[in-house]
Amino acid sequence: MSKRNQTLGEFIIEHQSSFKYSSGELSRLINSIRLAAKVVNHEVNKAGLVDIIGAAGDTNIQGEDQQKLDVYANNKFIQTLTNRNIVCGIASEEEDDFISINSQDENHQNKYVVLIDPLDGSSNIDVNVSVGTIFSIYRRVTPVGTPVTLDDFLQQGNKQVAAGYIIYGTSTMIVYTTGAGVNGFTLNPAIGTFYLSHPNMQFPKDGKIYSVNEGNYIHFPQGIKNYIKYCQMEEGDRPYTSRYIGSLVSDFHRNMIKGGIYMYPKSSVSSNGKLRLLYECNPMAFLAEQANGKASDGFNRIMDIQPTELHQRVPFICGSLNMVEKAEAFMRKG
Ligand code: AHG
Ligand code: MN
Ligand code: MN
Ligand code: MN
Repeated sequence: MSKRNQTLGEFIIEHQSSFKYSSGELSRLINSIRLAAKVVNHEVNKAGLVDIIGAAGDTNIQGEDQQKLDVYANNKFIQTLTNRNIVCGIASEEEDDFISINSQDENHQNKYVVLIDPLDGSSNIDVNVSVGTIFSIYRRVTPVGTPVTLDDFLQQGNKQVAAGYIIYGTSTMIVYTTGAGVNGFTLNPAIGTFYLSHPNMQFPKDGKIYSVNEGNYIHFPQGIKNYIKYCQMEEGDRPYTSRYIGSLVSDFHRNMIKGGIYMYPKSSVSSNGKLRLLYECNPMAFLAEQANGKASDGFNRIMDIQPTELHQRVPFICGSLNMVEKAEAFMRKG
């Protein structure tokens, strides 16, 4: 039974037996993500300070230049997972290829791969707006004891065993699912502990917020243009409110709490939109469905798309069930 003020550590232990494959490995993996989140959070919080001082960059005790935050976050998550000998492979938005992890004593015995967007919304760092991290976890499909291959990463989203995000916002939160609902934990920065603050999160079935980069309107497919006009029409509970932060994690988080729809459609200049299927769309789709929402490319369920490449992009429509279905209806009409 989930209790308010339960710590994330306590929650992970308590729910371990409900995992599909009950082993300590997934718990240890989520614990590692929790740890990396705290380290990255600390760095994200300092970003404004560095900018205010206006120096070329922070320097560490060895005199090395501070790295850009998305590279920093990428390295931190990879280091944390690698050092703990907890996964057999990692793929990241910031890496050209997947990374195969072989610890000498274990010889490829780990069963999970992690796919990660280490810093989502990185264009928002300089202006002190919320950014995030997105993660997605699968069991490998190739035999234990052998190095991972691309097949371990190109799995349909419906095979995810866990997914979630960290939002470095007014509060820092971890929101994740292991396939039994979505729970949100808020960091108490004074003591460095995440507490269960948002048990069993659910998208309202309907919403009044639409989130899309309307600057690209001219390039959107006719179905999306028509849906945007529908959102703006005066009728019933419309016009809806337009909210777009430009950081998927933050836009998704707000829409899940208040009810809304997020869209990054294809356009005449980017045939598959911008968002990455493996690091962004699949994990958010898993969370959305676990929270009674929906995620689609306009026609198909995101989590049923067979990935063909690591950095594949896909049009993305995600949020409150009735709103996504309405947008799909407009897409079908064209
Ligand atoms: P990232 O910072 O990981 O590259 O992701 C940015 C993504 C996503 O977070 C956001 O919703 C979208 O890009 C914003 O794109 P536009 O600036 O084109 O609207
Ligand atoms: Mn991103
Ligand atoms: Mn990113
Ligand atoms: Mn990026």
